[in-house]
Amino acid sequence: MPSFPKTMLHHSEGSNRKRPGGPFSHKHDIQEQRRALPIASAEEQLVEEVSKIDTLVVIGETGSGKTTQLPQFLYKGGFCKKGKIGITQPRRVAAVTVATRVAEEMGVVLGQLVGYSIRFEDKTSSATKIKYLTDGMLLREALLDPMLQSYSVIIVDEAHERTIHTDVLLGLLKAVQKRREVSNISIGDRKLSKKREFENGNSDSAKVSDLKLVIMSATLDTAGFSEYFDKAKTVYIQGRQYPVDILYTYQPEPDYLDAVLITVFQVHLEEQPGDILVFLTGQEEIESVERLLLERSAQLPADSLKLVVTPIYAALPCDQQMQVFKPTPKGSRKVILATNIAETSVTIPGVCYVIDPGLVKARIYNPRVGVESLTVLPVSKAQAVQRSGRAGRERPGKCFRLYTEDSFYKLDDATVPEIKRCNLANVVLQLKALGIHDILGFDFMDKPSSIAIRKSLEHLYILGALTDEGKLSDPLGVQMSSFPVEPLYARAIILSCEYKCSAEILAVVAMLSVESIFYQPRGKSEEAKAAKQRFQCSDGDHITLVNVLRAYVCEVERMGNGHAAGKGILRWCKENFINGRSLRRALDIYSQIERYLHGMGLPTMSCKDDWMQFRRCLTAAFFLNAACRQADGSYRALSSGQTVSIHPSSVLFGKKPDCLVFNELVYTTRHYIRHITRIDSTWLPELASQYFLSKTAS
Ligand code: CDP
Ligand code: MG
Repeated sequence: MPSFPKTMLHHSEGSNRKRPGGPFSHKHDIQEQRRALPIASAEEQLVEEVSKIDTLVVIGETGSGKTTQLPQFLYKGGFCKKGKIGITQPRRVAAVTVATRVAEEMGVVLGQLVGYSIRFEDKTSSATKIKYLTDGMLLREALLDPMLQSYSVIIVDEAHERTIHTDVLLGLLKAVQKRREVSNISIGDRKLSKKREFENGNSDSAKVSDLKLVIMSATLDTAGFSEYFDKAKTVYIQGRQYPVDILYTYQPEPDYLDAVLITVFQVHLEEQPGDILVFLTGQEEIESVERLLLERSAQLPADSLKLVVTPIYAALPCDQQMQVFKPTPKGSRKVILATNIAETSVTIPGVCYVIDPGLVKARIYNPRVGVESLTVLPVSKAQAVQRSGRAGRERPGKCFRLYTEDSFYKLDDATVPEIKRCNLANVVLQLKALGIHDILGFDFMDKPSSIAIRKSLEHLYILGALTDEGKLSDPLGVQMSSFPVEPLYARAIILSCEYKCSAEILAVVAMLSVESIFYQPRGKSEEAKAAKQRFQCSDGDHITLVNVLRAYVCEVERMGNGHAAGKGILRWCKENFINGRSLRRALDIYSQIERYLHGMGLPTMSCKDDWMQFRRCLTAAFFLNAACRQADGSYRALSSGQTVSIHPSSVLFGKKPDCLVFNELVYTTRHYIRHITRIDSTWLPELASQYFLSKTAS
């Protein structure tokens, strides 16, 4: 059992200020809650600054009201006369939950004045003036409206997260803002505006843009943003933070999930009331901890508080995401299991205890070998501090770091921007589609390495998305750029129409877009394995995934509608150890991508049970992810030369196929590949001849 010595007391600045009305404000109405937010007193100043200058940087602690309030201030301040306010979020969950909250605060129906737009879901209308959207969605909008004319203000929120989309967006917005400059010419007391004329750019009158930008961040280290936007002014929102005790473990924890469980119950039984926020790395982990907590909480003494467990992660359906914001029922304590979504993007009221194993799942790309892998990594110091801060929003709190104090000091200070550690193929394809050809010369805030850029150009060329001159190819490149999925998958979908198996490839892409289709509760792993066997195909995981989706759809159709049917489906999922949530979402994604396909005039066709045809299509689509067995039994990825192993979760584990294609590389103790299908090695030179023939030639 981990024991927590009190090693450090950490009192944040401004900690002795108490909010009037006590820590929990459920009894106040929503308008009073708004007025109590730290940003409320800055309303006038913020509106004035935005009207005076083109770009403003706003810094304020998480929970100070930036995301929910500033758009409302600007709306009231008259900034929506000529266009709408767009607020970008790195995460879908934040866009949805915040838009829902703001609609509620303004007393309007979501989707009207206030709306949101995320991949695979648009809840806006022509009446929408305050629009929350993911940064990726705004980039997509720029494809159709390169000057973003429908916006008068764009707020780039959570800029400190420095996601790859945020960084591209910053560069794009900077350019668009310049191009939307107008000259302010004063004639008497009349002000005339004239569109900036490029050939005559040296007019004496002051230039202002009719696109206002606000960059918002939760961390102080934002000199970079101001610098990047020509020394833009920065406004600080004074936050309110109560002291948070930080506790470390004496020893490193060998099994952090076990440590999480123990700590939750330790807090639950020994500490004062107040909700617990646990940071985990992903859906799969959250779901298994959720099950274990529920199992074990049944053994709690009858007189103790009840434990209510609520998960929050990106793939959770919207209605369930809102559950975490519901007030904790009387006589119970809420345990929120979250990914790093709860670090700064969403603020959940009521949290007093934070449990932080100090890990995060990230994509890491090695441009030299062209390999991207999903890896669980230690957080940075800045992230650890943000996480612990979540415990002190409403009253003094505690943060349990499930690692030693020594390891904290060894953490990196800040997270490296994603653009410097990710595969850039998607971004380069989008920039090309936006008409930006000189990627190496693009004004990035932090430039990715030129080798990473070159590698992604090469990658897109091999996939046929770029021409010899580096232009977007027509139609393939153009079509690929308009699908809301990674270029590799976009190409697979387009290709599948030729192979007459687009229904099955759509199913694969949809199923791969959600995490954890199968689950294995502890103590029931044999039953779960037997259940999986029913869908399993010895040719690989892709066919297995298609089988699951087909069986699910059959079951849904058989059951029909209504309450009993819903229950029947739940039972079916349970019996088969299948995650119903994930399947519902996969089906939803399926129909969304299908709409894009039909929009391009391409058909959905099923190969029925012609799995050879389907596997040939996978080969043609994923030839860059082919691997062959070596004499010593290990596998070698053909394009990168990386030695890889088949993940134990694959149906091909232990089956030793000679040649295969895979979809994911996960690095834990070694490089594991997942989502694998057996192929015939002669198909590679046949179906990807341009690549394999040139490779043998060189
Ligand atoms: O953006 P920032 O972190 O500065 O704060 P915010 O997201 O605007 O949150 C301001 C307040 O609204 C916090 O107290 C949240 O708890 C509350 N909020 C909420 O109750 N429900 C939501 N869906 C979103 C925010
Ligand atoms: Mg925010």
